[in-house]
Amino acid sequence: MDKLILGIESSCDETAAAVVKNGREILSNIINTQIDLHKKYGGVVPEIASRKHIENIDAVVEEALIQAGVTLNDIDAVAVTYGPGLVGALLVGVSYAKGYAYAAKKPLIPVHHIKGHIAANFLAHKDLKPPFISLVASGGHSHIVLAEDYTKFKILGRTRDDAAGEAFDKIARVLGLGYPGGPLIDKLAKQGDPKAIHFPRVKIDKDSLDFSFSGVKTAVINYLHKAEQQGAEINKADVAASFQDAVTDVLCEHTIDAAIRNNMKTIAMAGGVAANSDLRNKMIVLCREKGIDVLYPSPVLCTDNAAMIACEGYYLYLDGSRATLDLNAAASLSIED
Ligand code: KG4
Ligand code: ZN
Repeated sequence: MDKLILGIESSCDETAAAVVKNGREILSNIINTQIDLHKKYGGVVPEIASRKHIENIDAVVEEALIQAGVTLNDIDAVAVTYGPGLVGALLVGVSYAKGYAYAAKKPLIPVHHIKGHIAANFLAHKDLKPPFISLVASGGHSHIVLAEDYTKFKILGRTRDDAAGEAFDKIARVLGLGYPGGPLIDKLAKQGDPKAIHFPRVKIDKDSLDFSFSGVKTAVINYLHKAEQQGAEINKADVAASFQDAVTDVLCEHTIDAAIRNNMKTIAMAGGVAANSDLRNKMIVLCREKGIDVLYPSPVLCTDNAAMIACEGYYLYLDGSRATLDLNAAASLSIED
C-alpha cells in the first residue's frame, strides 16, 4: 500500500511543503524563499522570517497538495521540522502542522532538520540504503555523520565554531558579494586561482574528525585588511577561489578519513554547501582513488526544502514515531536523539 507523506519545513528562511510517495518519489516540492527580503540585512532576520512564514504557509501547503494532485484525505501523515533552527520560524511550521494533523485526524511526525538533509539523498538516489557516511554542511551545521539506518545516526565529527556555510556567507560579505554567499563565492571562484593565496587548513588533532572554520575566516579577513592598508589591489576571484579551496580541502579530507576508518564505501553529501561545485568535484576525484562512491542531491534538494522532511518523515512513520499535540519547537536538537 502506497504511503503519502506531507512534509512541512520552516526552520529558517524557506517556507516549504511537499508531498512524497513511499519516501522516494516527489509528487510536489514547493519552496517559497525569503532570500530577497533578508538580502538587504546581509543575513536572516529571525523576526521577519517568522512573520513571512505565517503569511505564506497556508498557500504553500495548499499548492503542494494541488501540484501533487491529492487532497488532505489521501495523505497518510504530516511530517514537520521541529528543530534545530530559528525557534520563532520553527513554531510556525510546528503549529500549522499540529492544526492540520488534528483537523484531518492524521498522524503527526516530528522530523529533525539535519536528518532531513541527509534523507534528501534517498530522493536523489533511489537505490541508496544505509549504512553510509554523510557530510552535512549547511549554513548552521557542519557534521560528519554515520547513517547507521534510515532514522539512526552517529556524529563522527562536527564544527567547533563556525559552520562551513556560515564561513562562506561571512567571506562573501567582506568581499562585498551579497547574500547568501556560498553560491556567489562558488561562481566567482571559477575565475580565480585556488593556489594564489595559501589560507590555513585547520586540523584539531590527528585523531579528531572535527572542523574549525574560524581560523580560515580570520585569515581571509586579515589578508584583506592588510592589502587595504598597503593599498594593494585585491583580486577577489583569487581570494574566493583560495578560500574555497581551503574549506573544501578540509571537508573532503575529514569525510574521506571517516569513511576509511568506518570501512564505508559510500559518502552522501547534504546541506546547502553540498551544492558547491568545487567540493563535489574534489570529493569525486579523491574518492575515485579510494574506491568510494560519492553521492549528492540536486542543488534544490541540497538547500532547505520539505521533500527531504517528508522523506525522513516516511521512515520515521514506518518506525512508529509519532508526536502528540504538545510538540514544541526545539532550537537546538542533537541528531543522535
Ligand atoms: O541547507 P541550507 O539551505 O540551510 C541551512 O540549513 O543552513 O544551507 C544554506 C547555506 C548557506 O550558508 C549558503 O551560503 C550555502 O548553504 N550554500 C553554498 C552553496 N549553495 C548554498 N555554499 C557553498 N557553495 C554553494 N554553491
Ligand atoms: Zn538546512
